[in-house]
Amino acid sequence: MELNKENIIVLRKEYGDAFYLLDSKQFRKNYTELKQTFSNIYSNFNIAYSYKTNYTPKLCKIVNELGGYAEVVSEMEAELAMRIGVKNDKIIWNGPIKNKENLKKFLLAGGTVNIDSIDEGKYIYELSKQYGNSVFNVGIRCNYDVKDGVISRFGFDIEGKEFFEVLNLIKKRDNLNLINLQCHFAKRQLEYWPEKAKGMLDLIDELKIVPQRIDLGGGLFGKMDDSLKEQFTSDIPDYQDYAEAVATLFAKRFPDKENQPELIIEPGSALVGDCMKFVGTVKTIKKVRGKIFATVLGSQNNISMTGVNPPIEIINMSNDQKEYTNLDFVGFTCIESDAIYKNYNGQLAVDDALVISNCGSYSLVMKPPFILPNFAVLDISEDRVEVIKRPENFDDIFHTFEF
Ligand SMILES: Cc1ncc(COP(=O)(O)O)c(C=O)c1O
Repeated sequence: MELNKENIIVLRKEYGDAFYLLDSKQFRKNYTELKQTFSNIYSNFNIAYSYKTNYTPKLCKIVNELGGYAEVVSEMEAELAMRIGVKNDKIIWNGPIKNKENLKKFLLAGGTVNIDSIDEGKYIYELSKQYGNSVFNVGIRCNYDVKDGVISRFGFDIEGKEFFEVLNLIKKRDNLNLINLQCHFAKRQLEYWPEKAKGMLDLIDELKIVPQRIDLGGGLFGKMDDSLKEQFTSDIPDYQDYAEAVATLFAKRFPDKENQPELIIEPGSALVGDCMKFVGTVKTIKKVRGKIFATVLGSQNNISMTGVNPPIEIINMSNDQKEYTNLDFVGFTCIESDAIYKNYNGQLAVDDALVISNCGSYSLVMKPPFILPNFAVLDISEDRVEVIKRPENFDDIFHTFEF
């Protein structure tokens, strides 16, 4: 279904003057394309979708249906995966802190836990003694220098004492299955990807261990409009670039297709970034000491994109637009810095729809209940309106408070 004036009138009437539009069709397309691109170079490849990036159940279900893993970082996300029917052996639990009781249940059920600290490693070791008849699938989150200038706080320094300590704990117990070695480095530039892969390949050579899965984490750019690309100082790689940067190294290291460990990546933004739009409404246009502001029902908090002008489209809903220069679109909050788009030049009128693209990642999941409850999420990609999330109301925010 195309987004135009007529459709916006209908949607506004039903769901209010601001809403998200989810494009599940595009998400499916991205998943299939990313999977194929890497698999063309290295066949034993799979995707673990980073739930935190956008845990909309419909998206998580698509990943499950297409055979991907659920990459979760909390008991809440682990529960979500289970509730939508992901089998335990398809759930990978990362993250720095895990609730002990949930962790135990999860391991007993056959999920994979990537150990992040020695304390966690010791806890799991003790559990494995307590539950001698159960096999626990564990991984180790590995931390090394990928020349990105960051000292990551996650996982084990692979040159440190605690890394070998946790490895020895795992080796000591037959029922601790080291299924996975994992890493994740947040910077998305292409140059760090061969470093990620080399770090892992060198490590397995040094340890003389080839686990069932080697997981390079997330940190890939997604697809985006040229107007957004231009605002980055580095080039924006595509799926093929990332695949060539790492899958080629794996294919070279494991030429025997029968004995390839599974290569996994954990994309969030690369799959979902371009799969959501936010549609807000221009409520007022005013001039303050020479500067023009259009206040929108919508906020920086809805899109979580700071420091850039997102790709926008204005849909005229009335006929009395005027030409403006250097107009800032600002949000409904009382925060001075709540600017959605700066220095817009063009036509605009009150009641126009402001359509913001590329807001699928870290948007919905990071919207605080600040000043207003959140808006509806609708999927119109399949030629009908599907309510993915109804608009939040007063009670959604206040029912956990005592009055
Ligand atoms: C462990 C892990 N995997 C995957 C991701 C997804 O990252 P991205 O959205 O950059 O692909 C993150 C993001 O922080 C992460 O911490």
